[in-house]
This record gives sequence, structure tokens and C-alpha cells, in this order.
Amino acid sequence: MTDYQTIKVERRDRVAIVTLNRPEALNALNLTVMQETVAATTELDRDPSVGAIVITGSAKAFAAGADIKEMAPKSYMDVYLDDWFAAWDRLAQLRTPTIAAVSGYALGGGCELAMICDILIASDTAKFGQPEIKLGVIPGIGGSQRLTRAVGKAKAMDLCLTGRNMDAAEAERAGLVSRVVAADQLLDTAIEVAQTVAGMSLPIAMMAKEAVGRAFETTLAEGIRFERRLFHSTFATDDQKEGMAAFVEKRPATFTHR
Ligand code: CAA
Repeated sequence: MTDYQTIKVERRDRVAIVTLNRPEALNALNLTVMQETVAATTELDRDPSVGAIVITGSAKAFAAGADIKEMAPKSYMDVYLDDWFAAWDRLAQLRTPTIAAVSGYALGGGCELAMICDILIASDTAKFGQPEIKLGVIPGIGGSQRLTRAVGKAKAMDLCLTGRNMDAAEAERAGLVSRVVAADQLLDTAIEVAQTVAGMSLPIAMMAKEAVGRAFETTLAEGIRFERRLFHSTFATDDQKEGMAAFVEKRPATFTHR
């Protein structure tokens, strides 16, 4: 597997774990972290032996945001011509299910990276926020959009305008995270969830992910039509035959991911 400077990539059977690893900067997301995370996840996404990708950080910080020291001297033309942060959009295009395991700070770009993931699991120490306004900027990796869709206008406005943090309990109540677990259980829980997902048929999991994702992009009628077409297409797979046969025969399904 490729050697990276700012992330670590490990495999556990069908699960890949990408760990942000810039402890000296609380995993601040600089250009290298962005390029390496995009490169690693793109490679994992192309590998059919990977059924789910966990993205995590350290106990103290999932990521404390985009790298402020790297950004501070940039001009408008620098960020406009480089289309600064646009590469993170690639993560939203991954077809393999992604799980964010968040402990400690998930601020600014850290919160945005976690929200790009399909399932967001937090430790009871997690803190989420979009503090960009305190720096004289606004979210730039989708925070104003994904946070609003996740928690609604009231809390999104509160967080984006005051820059305050939400703790894990508030984030769970608001619907930002799907589960909160004790800090020492975080990675094991995330890997267990990833293993469950990776144990399903990969093409069917991709379709489920695509269908849920579509809910954020379209009208209800179009979304339901899209879902129905994908549902119909699941009947073209070996795994639909196997999944239903296994139920009828009262045995566990063995999916071949075809
Ligand atoms: N960028 C660059 N460096 C960062 C950083 C960031 N986002 N966050 C932390 N660091 C660095 C600190 O500068 C410090 O480095 P030095 O030891 O060299 O001084 C080191 O990480 C440890 O940080 P602190 O000493 O500040 O740790 P703390 O425990 O006292 O505070 C914290 C933790 C509250 C998270 C604080 O570090 C902080 O407020 N960080 C910035 C959070 C932020 O504003 N994030 C948004 C960034 S903008 C953005 O993300 C734009 C976007 O939408 C993409």
C-alpha cells in the first residue's frame, strides 16, 4: 500500500481505515492531507475487495479544520484559480460506503469532512462546529449546505453565525450523528459498523447509498422514481437471488458482490 505523510491506511478484511495523522496540528487539513485523503480513498473506492471505508482522526481531534496557517497568506486569485477545497468534493463521489469515526474536535473543514461521510459515529468527547466566521471567512467544504440539510436552519444558522461548538449529545439530538459511544469504544464500534456494511452486497450497498444521497438532490417524486428504478435493477444481480434464497432456506446469505 502507498506510503503517505499525513494519513495512515490500514485494512481489516473488507474494511479500510484511513486515519488522519498530523498530531502536531490537530489534523488540520492542509493541501497534503487533502491530496493524500483523496488519492487513498479514490484507490480504495476502485478496489472491489473494500466494502466500507472508515475515516478517523485522533482521540483529541478528528480534524480542527482547514489549515489556517497555510490559508492565511493566500489572495483571492490564489484560492479562486486553484479552486481551493474543490478536491474534497471527490470524497462525496465515492461509491463505497464511508463511515466517519469522530473523537474530539471536528471543526470547520473537520466537521465538513465528517458530514461528507455516509454514517457519522461520534465519541462522547466529540465537538462539532463551523467556527469559520471567527476567522473572517465562511465554511468552504460544504458546511453551510450539509449542516443545514442535516440539522435544519435553526441550528445551522446558530453554529455558522456564532461559531459555537456542539457537543456529541447535542449533535445526536440534532440528527447530525447516528450514534454516540464512549471514547474508548469509538474505533471498534465504527469498524464493527463498517464490517456489517461490508458484509452486504457491495453493488447493492452502492445503490442504497446512491438512493439515500439522491434525497438531498431532487424532488420527492423524482427521488422515488429513482429509487424504484434502482430497486428494479437489484433483481439483475446474483446477490438478490442469493439474499432472498438464503432467507427462504433459513441460512445466512453469502454475497458474491455481483
Ligand atoms: N490550522 C492550523 N493549525 C491548527 C489548526 C488549524 N485549523 N487547529 C489547531 N492548529 C494547531 C495550533 O496552531 C497549534 O500549533 P502550535 O503548537 O504550533 O501553536 C496546535 O495545532 C495545537 O492547537 P492548540 O494549541 O490551539 O490546541 P488547544 O487544545 O488549545 O485548542 C482548538 C484546540 C480549540 C481546536 C484550537 O486549536 C482551534 O481553535 N483551532 C482552530 C479551529 C478552527 O477555527 N477551525 C476552522 C478552520 S477554517 C476552515 O476549516 C475553513 C473551511 O470551511 C474549510
